[in-house]
Amino acid sequence: MPDPGKEIKQPMSPQLESKTFGVSPKGDEITLFSLFIKDQIKVSVMNYGATWTHLLLPDRNGKMEDTVLGFDDLEGYLQKDYQDNYCYIGSTVGRVAGRLSGNQFTIDDKTYHLPPNQGETHLHGGIEGWDKKIWAAAPFETDNSVGITFYYKSPDGEENYPGTVEVWVTYTLDITGKLEISYRAISDKKTVINPTNHSYFNLSGDFSQSIEAHEFFVDTDHYLPINENSLPTGEVAHVAGTPFDFRTPKPISEQIHKKDEQLKLAGGIDHCFALKESETCATLFHPGTGRKLTLSTTAPGLQVYTSNYLNQSFAGKGGVKFDRRAAICLETQHFPDAANQPEFPSTLLLPGEVFQSRTVFAFSVEK
Ligand code: BGC
Repeated sequence: MPDPGKEIKQPMSPQLESKTFGVSPKGDEITLFSLFIKDQIKVSVMNYGATWTHLLLPDRNGKMEDTVLGFDDLEGYLQKDYQDNYCYIGSTVGRVAGRLSGNQFTIDDKTYHLPPNQGETHLHGGIEGWDKKIWAAAPFETDNSVGITFYYKSPDGEENYPGTVEVWVTYTLDITGKLEISYRAISDKKTVINPTNHSYFNLSGDFSQSIEAHEFFVDTDHYLPINENSLPTGEVAHVAGTPFDFRTPKPISEQIHKKDEQLKLAGGIDHCFALKESETCATLFHPGTGRKLTLSTTAPGLQVYTSNYLNQSFAGKGGVKFDRRAAICLETQHFPDAANQPEFPSTLLLPGEVFQSRTVFAFSVEK
């Protein structure tokens, strides 16, 4: 029998609300959807780019602060200074995250040449990737969760990729405060696909602070070294003795300043970790506020990017000009350039097959 003197803490049901976030250049109204549990978590997403815009979390004193980079309104996402920097803040990235060697891939002896968008490079889906599309949005509520499913139909030949691809990205907040992002895609022709979410985390809640004080853990022995074009060389290297060894939680500052050819090539970490099947693939902890993120995924890789190329060239939320190391991206995905690397898990999608991938973000506060 419960003690009548004691308050029994019932889990609070997650709630959903929406409001206008702005108007796209083509005149479409863009909606911001918020999934939240009072005093515990608030996640906002919008139908422009199926983008994750906000993540409010309490610190150890219960202070709710935003912990992902972004902008206060749609206009911020559309500003030229931001678009010209190829940052993809919070975006759903596709069809293929990262780079493809030679901006091309081959299926059944036919080579597909992809248009460059960042200088000479085809990056994160091309000139008008999924991050710039307006997605159909279907909010939903169940007994134990709230969420939004975004849907986009990518026409055959879009950005020179073959096949009409239909893709669903679902954000779900459950009663325990966990956020799941799931992907589902089908194609009517053989194609390649490797979507991800490109959120920039800074759990301190202060985007003028570097993420170097965060403690990072990745549960794997292996990472993918890159070449001078930021493409994986094909080697799956052991992390032992390298700055990529986060097998026990370590402050990022402890690893990122080491003299190392791989760090030098990317100006920091911009590398994929080859994941093993484990309950938790990574954690990110900010000792100053106690905020902790625990990540699990069905994807084979985790692209980690320490925002090496942010350089204060545009103003984000609250007018803060995001600087180098203002955030860390944790992009669960297949390995970059898998379409050209037969040894990597395949990103080929056949007609009749369903591509599926799930990532769960759990949040906690340590005293
Ligand atoms: C890539 C980086 C790129 C960044 C922003 C990351 O996923 O690995 O090389 O600069 O996205 O576009």
